Amino acid sequence: MPFHRQAEQFMEALNFVSGRRTLLCLENYSYAYPGGRDFVLKNVNMAIAPGQCHCLTGPTGSGKTTLLLAIKGLLPPGRQKGAVSFSSASLKTGIVLQNPEIQILGSTIGAEVAFALENHCVDPVLMPEKVAKALSDIGLKLPLEGDTEKLSIGQKYRLILAALLVMEPGLLLLDEPVAQLDPPGLEKLLTVIRQLKASGVSFLVCEHHPHPLKEVIDTFWRLQRDGSVRRLNASPPQIQWDRPYPGKSPSSNSSEKVIKVRDLAVVDENASSVWSDVSFSVAKGRRVVIYGPNGAGKTTLLRCLNGFVRPSKGSIHIWGESPSPVRLRGRVGSLFQNPHRQLFENTVFDEVAFTLKRLGGDRKSMVSKVEDALSRCGISELSGQSPHKLSYGQKHLVALSSLVVYKPQLLLLDDPFAGLDQEKSQQVMEILFDLSEKEGTTIVWTSHNPDSLSDWAHFALHVEGGQIVAQPV
Ligand SMILES: Nc1ncnc2c1ncn2[C@@H]1O[C@H](COP(=O)(O)OP(=O)(O)OP(=O)(O)O)[C@@H](O)[C@H]1O
Ligand SMILES: [Mg+2]
Repeated sequence: MPFHRQAEQFMEALNFVSGRRTLLCLENYSYAYPGGRDFVLKNVNMAIAPGQCHCLTGPTGSGKTTLLLAIKGLLPPGRQKGAVSFSSASLKTGIVLQNPEIQILGSTIGAEVAFALENHCVDPVLMPEKVAKALSDIGLKLPLEGDTEKLSIGQKYRLILAALLVMEPGLLLLDEPVAQLDPPGLEKLLTVIRQLKASGVSFLVCEHHPHPLKEVIDTFWRLQRDGSVRRLNASPPQIQWDRPYPGKSPSSNSSEKVIKVRDLAVVDENASSVWSDVSFSVAKGRRVVIYGPNGAGKTTLLRCLNGFVRPSKGSIHIWGESPSPVRLRGRVGSLFQNPHRQLFENTVFDEVAFTLKRLGGDRKSMVSKVEDALSRCGISELSGQSPHKLSYGQKHLVALSSLVVYKPQLLLLDDPFAGLDQEKSQQVMEILFDLSEKEGTTIVWTSHNPDSLSDWAHFALHVEGGQIVAQPV
């Protein structure tokens, strides 16, 4: 880009904060990962004033997280140009990563929230009140001695937010909060943002689905596929789920029961009930959404269905047998909520080919199936890359491709649309719909977003307050 255009863009970004002091400023900032051929971010010009909340949108894999990491100074030393500067060297900046699982250090809730206070040598006498307030502000009502490992991903996201609030930051960077927080969690976040903005704290939020946070956002930016950032004149339109499919009557009207659950109950390691008295059945080819707030036990239900968690009471039958990972191999595909946990090969191609190789068959057909799955998920260009160096949404798509490639008869998907932009969510929906309509695949997926009770679910399992109730949608 010619120098005069770069300077113009920078001035535009500065003008936008309308004569106010800037808290954060990115000036013609560009970045390429170590060994990466292309710059992920190119000549980015942005400015944020104190007390403003800005939102960065952009397609899956465009570089939103990279930009947050650049501001926080957490990027590996790749090629960089331009500058990121702050109003003061002592500005406290906090970040909540898209995958909160990799950010928690403390073994208990209290220790995690007090961690920053300890680092800042806060008087221990003052700590309990600060910790309790931060947890209450973000609505995490759990005992301080609770084990952080046992929290749901949404609860972990809230915990990290609380751990940042106690250190009274001047700038908060939030990566995809809407993907992880349920509606009450978002309400709490809105209140926190509103209050902190009034006291001069600034926010930069990366979000595919910013609509729930719209009222507190002052400015929207869009990261384009070429790595540049453009300021939007208005908020992006709310995601519209296209509904290209008529009705929700299954093409397969099979009465064959794939899942039968009777009087099921699960207790946690403290012998407290997660939920109990659960009974439902799912026929072949049906699509079922497990819906409920953060920490209600949605993932636990999926883990019971795929045989990873043993119920304390009642019975589960999948094709007439109790589930176990070995028994279900090749017939059931499980997508974990955290895609990091199921990626282990060196290339995306090998990752997607892994189960096919184990199931046997000739190489030519294996290659063609893998290429087809990658193309349907819109990630063919990632085939030779390491699955460990991808964006969150890209990892999610690789994990999903590694399941749909072998067409399992039952898919158990934990939050399959989390972290995906509208185009990719639509693509995934079409793939899943096709599998269920054409192959008779039974699909069960979880969500904490009421909008996802889309037209194409046959019924919902509503998980809340220790109960699971089957409801029509
Ligand atoms: N550690 C890494 N090493 C090399 N390349 C990486 C690394 N992390 C991400 N990338 C690449 O940088 C690009 C931007 O990734 P980034 O995570 O910033 O995207 P994103 O916009 O946040 O995506 P998402 O919407 O999926 O969260 C992607 O092409 C990704 O493959
Ligand atoms: Mg990201």
